[in-house]
Amino acid sequence: MRVIIAENFVQAGEIAADIMEEIIRANPECTLGLATGSSPVRMYQELARRCQEGRLDFSRIHTVNLDEYVGLEPTHDQSYRYFMNSNLFDHININKANTYVAKGTGDLEANLAEFNEVLDNADIAIQVLGVGPDGHLGFNEPGDVLYDGAHVETLDPSTIDANQRFFASRDEVPRYAVTMGMGNIMRARKLLMIVGGNKQDAMRKLLLSDKLDPHCPATFMRMHRDATVILERALAEEIGYQG
Ligand code: GLP
Repeated sequence: MRVIIAENFVQAGEIAADIMEEIIRANPECTLGLATGSSPVRMYQELARRCQEGRLDFSRIHTVNLDEYVGLEPTHDQSYRYFMNSNLFDHININKANTYVAKGTGDLEANLAEFNEVLDNADIAIQVLGVGPDGHLGFNEPGDVLYDGAHVETLDPSTIDANQRFFASRDEVPRYAVTMGMGNIMRARKLLMIVGGNKQDAMRKLLLSDKLDPHCPATFMRMHRDATVILERALAEEIGYQG
């Protein structure tokens, strides 16, 4: 696993955008696995800028997202479909028909079947990841077992707490989500995690330990043959990571 220390959030986004640009240039028809959360926002801004400058072309790119809240319509301003449109897709020359964010409303079983079919047919060139404070990837929450394919997760109280900042009150945070499984994530050709902020515990377990711990799904990053973590310096120093 490659670990890159970035000076700050802005630099982390630029380094991540460089990695994404290389992949898009190598295969302008590839499928990108995308993530929500605050961690990749700077990278998305940078990719949008490069596209607007004519340096990057998304016209033949496909995307699939990690997860979506159960119960939020795509038009809800905290749904992950809305996030992706407003943070990236509305600012680049992508065909939205080629972007996939699982549906969190309606017939959940049918939604999951569709999500699994999309994933079975996707060859994800790179999967972008953030990490939850509890070590979740996508919405794969810590537990005794992890899941291979797309499924519904019950969100941990700590995840509800962490994501409360985006909603008017804690009660409004959805309790369930659909997410790619750990197997779907691991089958991507490359993994790219961007991490800063209050992720000390998860990063200690990922970077300072040798354990693959289902109680910290992020530790499974270590099993992937082409995984990169971009870590902000302040967080690296806080946990005593020396590289
Ligand atoms: C949500 C998403 C995760 C993301 C996490 C971290 O819970 N489901 O995929 O990694 O938020 O968010 P942030 O980057 O805002 O810390």
